[in-house]
Amino acid sequence: MVKKNTSWGGRFKKQTAEKAQKFSSSINVDKKLYKEDISGSVAYAEALQSAGVINKSELAKIKSGLKQIKQKIESDKFNWQEALEDVHMNIESALEKIIGSAAKKLHTGRSRNDQVVTDLKLHLLEKSKEIKSCITDLLEVLVLKAESEVDTLMPGFTHMQIAQPITLGHHLMAWFEMLSRDLDRFEECEIRLKISPLGSGALAGNKFKINRMKLAKSLGFSEITKNSIDAVSDRDYVIEMLFNISLMGVHLSRISEELIIWSSSQFDYVDLPEELCTGSSIMPQKKNPDMAELVRGGSSKTIGNLVTLLSLIKNQPLSYNRDNQEDKSPLFDSIEYALGSLDITTAMIAGAEFNHDSMLTDVYDGHICATDLAEYLVMKGIPFRDAHAISGKAVQLAETSDLLLSELSLKDLKKLNALIKKDVFKHLDPLKSITSKSSIGGTAPSQVLKQIAHAKDKLKL
Ligand code: ARG
Repeated sequence: MVKKNTSWGGRFKKQTAEKAQKFSSSINVDKKLYKEDISGSVAYAEALQSAGVINKSELAKIKSGLKQIKQKIESDKFNWQEALEDVHMNIESALEKIIGSAAKKLHTGRSRNDQVVTDLKLHLLEKSKEIKSCITDLLEVLVLKAESEVDTLMPGFTHMQIAQPITLGHHLMAWFEMLSRDLDRFEECEIRLKISPLGSGALAGNKFKINRMKLAKSLGFSEITKNSIDAVSDRDYVIEMLFNISLMGVHLSRISEELIIWSSSQFDYVDLPEELCTGSSIMPQKKNPDMAELVRGGSSKTIGNLVTLLSLIKNQPLSYNRDNQEDKSPLFDSIEYALGSLDITTAMIAGAEFNHDSMLTDVYDGHICATDLAEYLVMKGIPFRDAHAISGKAVQLAETSDLLLSELSLKDLKKLNALIKKDVFKHLDPLKSITSKSSIGGTAPSQVLKQIAHAKDKLKL
């Protein structure tokens, strides 16, 4: 049933058209904010009481009414009404039904414009914590796996071609680094989320002697916004969250891509946990990495959601415009992706079994130590560019004779350069190659163990 909106209907002669009401209602999306809306209202009512706008008994009624509403919502007994537009007005109207006229004072000096941004920031602070804890779980799994694979040889790739020998532990720690930056980004964004806009009113401020700082602190914020016009218009923190999620999504997608490639029978580097794979309805032999594909596929929408928000904001004149209501569904969608994909990726990696033999077979393929041969020649005093060319010739010879670089005879190698001695073969050994890459951050197990120690420090493991 279409009703005249009692919260703002005073100057209207006509009722809102049903189609306008339907079109503008956001209740199905923003009811997710009920908890924050209620705690924001409790804190605001306390501020109103301290400012002398309401008395103690009105405050008590408001608090108890809001408590009842929360219980109703949580036991699924709350009657959400589309006609009441959004979560703020649904709760306010329900409060009036429960406690009567005291409810009508709650909105004194407050606007839905400062209310909705307060709710959003509180919600994002909560979600940021959940996301950080899921990233931390994944980082822990990665660091422990890396530790147990610190000596496992595998080929490292550039251009998807076998490049140089590395260890699986080193590769897993590369994944760790990507996600560890994500963790830091969420942490940094919280600094801005912790700035309270409440008390900014519709745009111009609040005249009711509200102690904004005390109000902010009571809600867990640490600062207050400095300009009320900006405070009600600012959605930077939504964009930042969406960026952080989309970049993390890109990382998870790249990890998934590798898991998908590695689990193919051509690679056979990893066996993903069966309970996280699916079969084919037609091909009985299939074990498909669908979860990794969904993590990879789902990350695309997080990029779309970021672009949605950037374009939503870019043409808006100050201050609040109703366009902003469109911020929530992309935001909630990305948050859902973040939590779901982190959880499933953690399970996939925790249960992954790496096939050392397949990795080792590839390490002894593809002339993987050609760079080491060039560097051996450098140590014999040959300039690197010349050494590179000599090593290239050795690769050519190996290819035409269908041999591995390490299978060429000393006689043949000497023909390419007289400085090559018997000790060259040590340098064509992938194991020797990895231990020699001992620069900070390099693949030498001694170095990877240092990366792991740092990582454990960060995670307090
Ligand atoms: N549902 C609105 C939103 O999400 C709340 C603010 C409405 N403000 C207004 N002046 N109509 O943005």
